[in-house]
Amino acid sequence: MASHRFILAAFVLTLAACGTSRPDAPTASTPVAPASGAMVALPLDVHSHARPAEARVTHVSLDLDADFQAKVLRGTSTLTVARAPGAREIVLDVRDLTIQSVTDQQGRTLAFEVGASDPVLGAPLTVQLPTSDQVVVTYETSPAAAAVQWLAPSQTSSGKPFLFTQGQAILTRTWIPTQDSPGIRQTYEARITVPATFRAVMSAEGNGGEPEGMDGDRSRFAFALDRAIPPYLIALAIGDLEFRSLGPRTGVWAEPQVVDRAAAEFVEVEEMVDAAEDLYGPYRWGRYDLLVLPASFPFGGMENPLLTFATPTILAGDRSLVSLVAHELAHSWSGNLVTNAVWDDFWINEGFTSYFENRIMERVYGRPYADMLASLARTGLDADLAELPGPDTHLHLDLTGRDPDDGMTSIAYDKGALFLRATEETVGRERFDAWLRGYFDRHAFQPMTTEGLLADMDANLFRGDAALRARVNPEAWIYQAGVPASAPRVTSEAFARVETQAAAFAGGAAPSSLPTDAWSTHEWLHFLGSLPPTLPAERLAALDQAFRLSASGNSEIAFAWFRVAIRNHYEPALPAMERFLMTVGRRKFVAPLYADLAATDWGRPLAERIYRAARPGYHSVTTNTVDATLGVTAGG
Ligand code: BES
Ligand code: ZN
Repeated sequence: MASHRFILAAFVLTLAACGTSRPDAPTASTPVAPASGAMVALPLDVHSHARPAEARVTHVSLDLDADFQAKVLRGTSTLTVARAPGAREIVLDVRDLTIQSVTDQQGRTLAFEVGASDPVLGAPLTVQLPTSDQVVVTYETSPAAAAVQWLAPSQTSSGKPFLFTQGQAILTRTWIPTQDSPGIRQTYEARITVPATFRAVMSAEGNGGEPEGMDGDRSRFAFALDRAIPPYLIALAIGDLEFRSLGPRTGVWAEPQVVDRAAAEFVEVEEMVDAAEDLYGPYRWGRYDLLVLPASFPFGGMENPLLTFATPTILAGDRSLVSLVAHELAHSWSGNLVTNAVWDDFWINEGFTSYFENRIMERVYGRPYADMLASLARTGLDADLAELPGPDTHLHLDLTGRDPDDGMTSIAYDKGALFLRATEETVGRERFDAWLRGYFDRHAFQPMTTEGLLADMDANLFRGDAALRARVNPEAWIYQAGVPASAPRVTSEAFARVETQAAAFAGGAAPSSLPTDAWSTHEWLHFLGSLPPTLPAERLAALDQAFRLSASGNSEIAFAWFRVAIRNHYEPALPAMERFLMTVGRRKFVAPLYADLAATDWGRPLAERIYRAARPGYHSVTTNTVDATLGVTAGG
């Protein structure tokens, strides 16, 4: 790693504590360094304009009005700034914001300049610092702000408008002017004014509270989070929202038409929090609630602290897709407590989380169930390994000049988790778990780099046992392509039986002869994934008629089936696929379906026709990806 990409950041590390005030948060005297005592270098974030060694934001205070007519958030962001001696200016990240003014706390004008804007990174906003430590930015967002989706009544279950934000990876700068880098942790508070019949919720304390003030036909909700977080975790949703309790510290928010279904799906969530704590230490955020969003939400889930945002496509009716909740919950440790310092280290968020997710699932549902999930993950990983260029299959990436979104492949998730599973199996579960629990404690509320992780493993896991370290060989996993040959092979007895059935069906067996009655969603997914590449239309029709796959209310099964249908140009499934693409905006489903269609002569015009109609309903995260797949240029 070239040393010019690092700042030796003793100053930054001292400041890292300024924004936190809790007893369990680090203080200025808490070393960020691993137990070995070495100082961690904070890498330069190539996806932010901030220069935190000079001046950094420690606290964000928002006062925003949500204008659903204009599709604009408007108001002020008051930033508390810590600075190095002699620093005169602070550089913030902004993208598509209209800045009205920048002042000090007394309203005295501060000189500012917005630099050249990059389509992905946005622009630097440089402000001349006052002698005091607060800077007030008065601004408004663009109706096209990439983080924010303003939903029309036709896109919600309630028939009322809705708004949500999605900050990760670098979209927070499209609705909040701040230093938008995961290594620059900030506490925050917010006052959000909304139309009187709506409720605002955020990734903070204050959800469920009565409006703080009523002002004509507007109500104002107040929030605060006193544990410092990376800015990509600041999140807001506004809509017709109701709450159902799931347990003493868990609950779910959703539109009234959805909230009871959601509560039924998530009955095990409190148990998951208990299991997670039992594994790797106390849950440090107070409440753990979920928000089920309208179907255009571009992700399965987003680990916004205290309030996971989730797609309604996991409401299968039989709780079979709740491993997603285990995943987002696990981020409360891996990601939200210990955070990738820059997006090149994204695997530190997602790999640890995917490993932890599987351990929660094993605790709550048993090893055979967890093994089915791990096996599906391995199948997906192998598919990506076959497609991706070698360097993109390293755990540690170099995303210079690229959108950090490019790092969101199964490498970070499933190769990352497999590395930890391999490590666990080599050192033994007891030793591994003790290390991982300690790792979360040692680095709580701090950024983590790949190098910092290796130093922590050396100091606290391998502890001088060179032979053990050599058997794990972390460098091979982290800095080399593919998966080491020594990687554990996940086997599932249930899946072995399913493979026999898939072979029988491929050999001509009638669907009615398959013992599918006791199959879980995961067995169905493995069955569909184990079918031969091509099948005659009458075999597909027989499957569809026997199991009503086109009409499946399970989004994962429907998605896997639509891919089989496209691969075989099986026309009868296409109307259902079109309805799916018109309502669901989850990128993981939508992008592969368009890509599969676009790869065929017959499917390309169909993909283009459906996308023209569906695109206005998708969030920017999804249109960004699908635009690239279909070669659509902005606006078209
Ligand atoms: N943090 C991610 C979502 C994300 C990653 C958003 C990168 C933006 C940039 C979240 O925890 C996640 O991984 N969601 C997955 C589900 C999970 C079960 C693998 C998803 O949305 O599919
Ligand atoms: Zn994740």
